[in-house]
Amino acid sequence: MEKMKALVFHGVSDIRIDEVPRPRAGVGEAVIRITLTTICGTDLHIVRGEYPVKPGLIIGHEPVGVIEELGPGLTGFEIGDRVLVGAITPCGQCRACLSGQLSQCGHGDGYEAIGGWRFGNTINGAQAEYLLVPHAQANLAKIPDELTDEQVVLLADIVSTGFSGAESGGVRIGDAVAVFAQGPIGLCATAGAKLMGASLIIGIDSDLTRLDMSRRLGADVTLNHLEVDVVKEVKRLTGGGADVAIEALGMQETFENALRCLRPGGVLSSLGVYSGKLSVPYDAFAAGIGDHRIATTLCPGGKERMRRLMEVVKGGRVDFTPLLTYTFPLDEVKEGYRVFGERIDGALKVAIKP
Ligand SMILES: NC(=O)c1ccc[n+]([C@@H]2O[C@H](COP(=O)([O-])OP(=O)(O)OC[C@H]3O[C@@H](n4cnc5c(N)ncnc54)[C@H](O)[C@@H]3O)[C@@H](O)[C@H]2O)c1
Ligand SMILES: [Zn+2]
Ligand SMILES: [Zn+2]
Repeated sequence: MEKMKALVFHGVSDIRIDEVPRPRAGVGEAVIRITLTTICGTDLHIVRGEYPVKPGLIIGHEPVGVIEELGPGLTGFEIGDRVLVGAITPCGQCRACLSGQLSQCGHGDGYEAIGGWRFGNTINGAQAEYLLVPHAQANLAKIPDELTDEQVVLLADIVSTGFSGAESGGVRIGDAVAVFAQGPIGLCATAGAKLMGASLIIGIDSDLTRLDMSRRLGADVTLNHLEVDVVKEVKRLTGGGADVAIEALGMQETFENALRCLRPGGVLSSLGVYSGKLSVPYDAFAAGIGDHRIATTLCPGGKERMRRLMEVVKGGRVDFTPLLTYTFPLDEVKEGYRVFGERIDGALKVAIKP
């Protein structure tokens, strides 16, 4: 049996580069040779034991590669094609997928919450030399020749997610948008709000490097939540409240601030992954009759989503390569986790080259 190198999760704070069997493509599946991938904040949650996955799993869910093997039943692809695969791999056939809820894919049947997230969650992921892609017909997105791996790798997850924050918030031309937290996800939400035509974007964080990047990607104003009363300041800057507030952290404080800074009838678009209990403050919620909307979104995936995002980059609308602050070979991926996890020297995203 042929072997490959991969980053395997063995238990909390125990990840190792192991030699494991190289995957083979079955019906409807493809194997890609990974040329570039990255580490997500969610991978940190997995390694720290905050999001459980089974020991023995290869983690990572942001794959760029070259088609190495095509299983029976696939059309329109060739060995050697460069492809981007979304972090979320919908089957394209179930009730959820065919109703447009690709991320809540029911695996060929009904609906399953978060069912579309398979890589590095329920099946082996991308921090490896090779990756088995399920439902490949719906998930392999060919990369235009003019785009580099670095230009597309962040589209698989953080860009798709961040943009969806603006999309699910229904940002309209002329809107005032506040984005709570400017980590990788929040920064992409800021860029998304700009693309959708917001006329005032307020980026909120306390990390000065991230606030700089926020202005670079589209924020008109940035606020340091440790220095100012952000709710009061957003209300002042927007003349009464934001049209859309995007939550990109997953904490009670940011959720609540996002709700409190909205105008009546505004939209809270929530991207954060929360743990424990989350409560909605009665006063900020106008007793439930303030015409607010609260929307949540899991990163949209599938090849059509990836194609659209690549077109945005190809058209020169936005460039996310400045977020790739470090590159490591797969053998040194553990050091990549350390640099990323501890945000060493302003680390934002770390590229991994197998
Ligand atoms: N919805 C999805 O599909 C999806 C996908 C990926 C990640 N996520 C979630 O999105 C969230 C953000 O991910 P990330 O990788 O950008 O996180 P991150 O940890 O890299 O960044 C979080 C940022 O929040 C800032 N922050 C801390 N407290 C704050 C406060 N009170 N107000 C404003 N900013 C504050 C920090 O300085 C940091 O810059 C996480 O909950 C993650 O699990 C969701
Ligand atoms: Zn992720
Ligand atoms: Zn499905």
